[in-house]
Amino acid sequence: LQAKLSVSREEAISSIDERLYGSFVEHLGRAVYGGIYEPGHPLSDEHGFRKDVLDMVREARVPIVRYPGGNFVSGYNWRDGIGPKQDRPRRLELAWAAIETNQFGIDEFADWCRAADTQGMIAVNLGTGTPKEAAELLEYCNHPGGTALSDLRRANGHAQPHNFRVWCLGNEMDGPWQICGLTADEYGRKAHETAKMMRWVDPDIQLVACGSSAMELPTFPVWDRKVLEYTYEDVDYLSLHRYYKYKGDAKELITSFADMDRFIDTLSATIDYVKALKRTRKQVKLSFDEWNVWDSEMPLPGRWLEGPESHQQYYTLLDALAVGGMLCTLINHSDRVRMACLAQLVNALSPVLTKNGGGMVKMPTYYPFMQVSTLGRGQALAVRVQAPMVETEHSGDVRTLQSAAVYDEQAREVRVFALNCNEEDMLLNLRLEAFEGELRMVEHTVLDGEDLMAVNDFDAPERVKPHAAPCTPVAGERAQIRLPAQSWNVMRFQ
Ligand code: AHR
Repeated sequence: LQAKLSVSREEAISSIDERLYGSFVEHLGRAVYGGIYEPGHPLSDEHGFRKDVLDMVREARVPIVRYPGGNFVSGYNWRDGIGPKQDRPRRLELAWAAIETNQFGIDEFADWCRAADTQGMIAVNLGTGTPKEAAELLEYCNHPGGTALSDLRRANGHAQPHNFRVWCLGNEMDGPWQICGLTADEYGRKAHETAKMMRWVDPDIQLVACGSSAMELPTFPVWDRKVLEYTYEDVDYLSLHRYYKYKGDAKELITSFADMDRFIDTLSATIDYVKALKRTRKQVKLSFDEWNVWDSEMPLPGRWLEGPESHQQYYTLLDALAVGGMLCTLINHSDRVRMACLAQLVNALSPVLTKNGGGMVKMPTYYPFMQVSTLGRGQALAVRVQAPMVETEHSGDVRTLQSAAVYDEQAREVRVFALNCNEEDMLLNLRLEAFEGELRMVEHTVLDGEDLMAVNDFDAPERVKPHAAPCTPVAGERAQIRLPAQSWNVMRFQ
């Protein structure tokens, strides 16, 4: 099999917003309790934050983390999670049928962000919550002092404002599963009024409106059009959420990027339609603030448990290949998609799993995420691809080579990411055009394996991991590189 891939220094898509490589921590399963927060664990710091998880967040350079949900946020009263821990209420948490102890709240999250060297993307409750409560949370977090709420934060040990910059106006409000879900008209009005109040509290925040949470919903894409008609002038981003499921056919999952492409294109067009309607120059961007592979059939371990072992997916090599393909899609749309969150960070649909009182294991999906987050920075360059096609049930004919390229000006380095979806090796005819001087390949890592269903677990934590491949010589802008069957490849050129 042969394919052609050309990348030119002169054909940039956009500079990449580093927040494209964000993640997400929800009060779901053991994401918070036993994930980022486990007081008494030998590896935890004085706040109870697990240092192995903090190290992972720093290693992967995760620039932004969405919090506290997810479906959870639509029933959450943020006041339950502040003040002395012994006084915080235990509550029935209706989104995931768990007990919420409220031992971790917004102040702890702000401390955790600082320790993790990341920033927060805070979702407000627009299910059971009101615009007033959302504005009050913002005041509590971002107002310097001298008001009851900002002084309450100070009294709770945080003299400096948390200064969260990015705020989501609710979560998946189009979903029938959402606590107090809304119609597009109801949500559009509520989001508009909430945005007004929040901007009066802090005009410098960036706001994200809920877009469609699935292309299958009957409200898609009218939801997005209507919501934007209410909020176009109020918000900076429209959100997208999308999860992909393995249904027994590897080809379908590995080509999930084609569906993601379509979703982004449709919502970009919807934004452009409303922009024209509003006769404005303002450009609303996209925030793909939940995306991943998810085996959504996994049963809950039980009802009303504290930190239940739910949503603990052991991701496979195949899942990791799919994640690599989707990361390329995000880069290739980085002019429209400025932020994205791999959902989630730890213990729930996550690239790492921890054991209570024990260690941490990196899932196969961790590797493409970490590689692209650390290397996929700078200018996204357009990729011109010719490759064999495959017929899929979900997306029709799809190209079997998915790729993306970036130029990091500081490092003077070109990085090419490539997913070979075929069951055979592919000979990649790569052309790197218009770069200064002669480029040479300095690294090629490959993630592949005989068994697409292979996972990492606590007994074999490194079963699936990228390995180094020999570097291929580049001659006069061209190189012929072997991409193994069903493999994820990261190549660096200097
Ligand atoms: O990430 C898990 C859940 O998926 C989130 O709570 C929700 O927003 C989405 O449906």
